[in-house]
Amino acid sequence: MGKKISLIFGCSGQDGALLSRSLLKQNYEVVGTSRAIKTNEVTCLRNHSLLGIDKDVRFKNCHLTNFKEVANLIDKVNPDEIYNLAAQSSVSKSYKNPQETFSSIIDVTLNILEVCRETNYDGNIFFAGSSEIFGNTETKANIKHKHRPLSPYGIAKETSFNLVELYRNLYNIKCVTGILFNHESPLRNKNFVTQKIISEALLCTNKKSHKVSLGNLNVQRDWGWAEEYIEAFQLINRSTSKKDQIVCTGKLTKLERFVEIVFDELNLNWKDHVTSDSEFFRKGEIIKSFGDPSQIKNDLNWEAKVNINSIIKKLIEFKINSL
Ligand code: GDD
Repeated sequence: MGKKISLIFGCSGQDGALLSRSLLKQNYEVVGTSRAIKTNEVTCLRNHSLLGIDKDVRFKNCHLTNFKEVANLIDKVNPDEIYNLAAQSSVSKSYKNPQETFSSIIDVTLNILEVCRETNYDGNIFFAGSSEIFGNTETKANIKHKHRPLSPYGIAKETSFNLVELYRNLYNIKCVTGILFNHESPLRNKNFVTQKIISEALLCTNKKSHKVSLGNLNVQRDWGWAEEYIEAFQLINRSTSKKDQIVCTGKLTKLERFVEIVFDELNLNWKDHVTSDSEFFRKGEIIKSFGDPSQIKNDLNWEAKVNINSIIKKLIEFKINSL
């Protein structure tokens, strides 16, 4: 029997690279698309190179809003399973560029679903959803939690979540959404707060006068370890129950506490360096965002094991070793 094949739309980011590595380890053949591939191949393959797998994934050009191109790719590759991770994934950029955000999330999701419907694609399809659909969560968000997105990105993810549910119910397409809370790794870039804090804190160890400007330090987030989350993607996608799942730790950490732990690890006092600057505040700030991990534990026996202190230690260790 030949190798199983996974097709990853939006393969070049943190999750695409970590997922590729996990699938390759299971002897899957991995085919990936990326928005970055034509414009800048180096950037596109950066994460795969860091993981030492850039030669092992077959990268393809494909305009994901083009019906024919997606249909041809699926026809040629004939994947056993599909992961749709494609998105403009920065919440703050989505305020500046809502159209691009909508197109990269809603149009792409709809196009993939339409291709699968028209071509009677019979494999499993996973969509990367986001905790941003919930907006503020006073209690841990479960699958029934109200949707009150506060950003164009959150609205786009909510619409694609609804589309996935609709196509599953109306057309029996085997598609599901994993609603992902924040998940980190060294592959994140400095657009995201965890990498920004760690890079800047390391600069403070060399230059005592270095200042770090962040936004709202009172926000609280449910931060997990991305390497564990991509294992959940696969369990959710391959499960026969075809149920949307929340992927989270269930634990909240205040951003100020995250900063304090990072600076403590480096024997620095964060108060000497960090300021809260309105430039980095968001228009629709979600103050508290955390999820309920009980359904995925019950259904798929998946749970997050790496806690916030270990996440921070691993991120710092990697950064120091890579410098
Ligand atoms: N990026 C950034 N930079 N965020 C800051 C800063 C700053 O200087 N200062 C404070 N923050 C706050 C943000 O306002 C937000 O509340 C929190 O730190 C986390 O921001 P990000 O790391 O940028 O992540 P995110 O929560 O907006 O979005 C990420 O997680 C979502 C949920 O999984 C992204 O990965 C999304 O694509 C994903 O859907």
